[in-house]
Amino acid sequence: MTTTPRADALIQIEDLRREFQMGTEVVAALDGVTIEVAEGDFLSVMGPSGSGKSTLLYLIGGLDRPTDGHIWVRGQDIAALDENALAHYRRQEVGFVFQSFNLIPTMTALENVMFPTIFAGVPHTQRADRARRLLRLVGLADRMEHRPTELSGGQQQRVAIARALVNDPSIILADEPTGNLDSHTGGEVMELLSQLNQDEGRTVVIVSHDARVAEFVSRTMHLLDGRVATSPD
Ligand SMILES: Nc1ncnc2c1ncn2[C@@H]1O[C@H](COP(=O)(O)OP(=O)(O)O)[C@@H](O)[C@H]1O
Ligand SMILES: [Mg+2]
Repeated sequence: MTTTPRADALIQIEDLRREFQMGTEVVAALDGVTIEVAEGDFLSVMGPSGSGKSTLLYLIGGLDRPTDGHIWVRGQDIAALDENALAHYRRQEVGFVFQSFNLIPTMTALENVMFPTIFAGVPHTQRADRARRLLRLVGLADRMEHRPTELSGGQQQRVAIARALVNDPSIILADEPTGNLDSHTGGEVMELLSQLNQDEGRTVVIVSHDARVAEFVSRTMHLLDGRVATSPD
C-alpha cells in the first residue's frame, strides 16, 4: 500500500519498521507503526522498557534510519534523504532532549547552548545573544559561565533544553527528560516543555514514565513490542 502524505500532518509515519540484527537473531524494535502528529501537538509516548519508544524518537529526529516505512515531515520523506539533507533536517527542524542531558563537560552553559549554531553560518555575537536569551528563558541568567559539573541536574536539563531550541526547531523530541531528576525538578522541566508547546506553538513528542506527564500533554500513545497498542483516546 502506498499513501501520499497529507498536507495537514506535521509528522506522518506509515508502517515504520526498524530491525536490529543481534547475532543470528533479528529484533524488530518497531514492527509497523503508523501515527500522525499535527502541528502544535504535545504527544506522550508510553510503553514498557524495550517497547521501541527511543527507537521511534530517534527515527523521527533523523538520528537513525528505518528498515522500512515512511516518515513524512511537512510532506518530505526523511527516510529518503541523503546524509547531508538529513543532517540539515536534524539541525533546522528538530531539538533533542535526552535523559542524560548530554552536555559537553568542558564547555560552559553558554558554549553548550551555542554549539549547534556553529554550522549555521551566523556571526558569533549573534549566536551568543540568542544563546543568552534562551538561557534567560529557561531561568539560568546567572549560570551562563558555569560548566555542567557546577550545575544541578535540573539546571543541566534546562541548559539542554535551551540548546535544543537554539536553531529554532518546530519539533522538540524529549526522551525521558525527567528520568534523572527528583520529582520537584522534573515537574519544573515538564512546565518548561509545556510552556514551549503552549506559548511558542512548538510540537513536542515526549517519552516518559512519569505519570504526571498526562497533565501536560494533548495526546498519549502506547507502544507494546514495537506496535501501537490501543490508545485510550
Ligand atoms: N542499537 C540497537 N541494537 C540492537 N538492538 C536494539 C538497539 N536499539 C534498540 N534495540 C532493541 O530494540 C528494542 C526497543 O528498544 P528501545 O527503542 O530502546 O526501547 P524503549 O526506549 O521503549 O525502552 C529493544 O528490544 C532493544 O533491545
Ligand atoms: Mg528508551
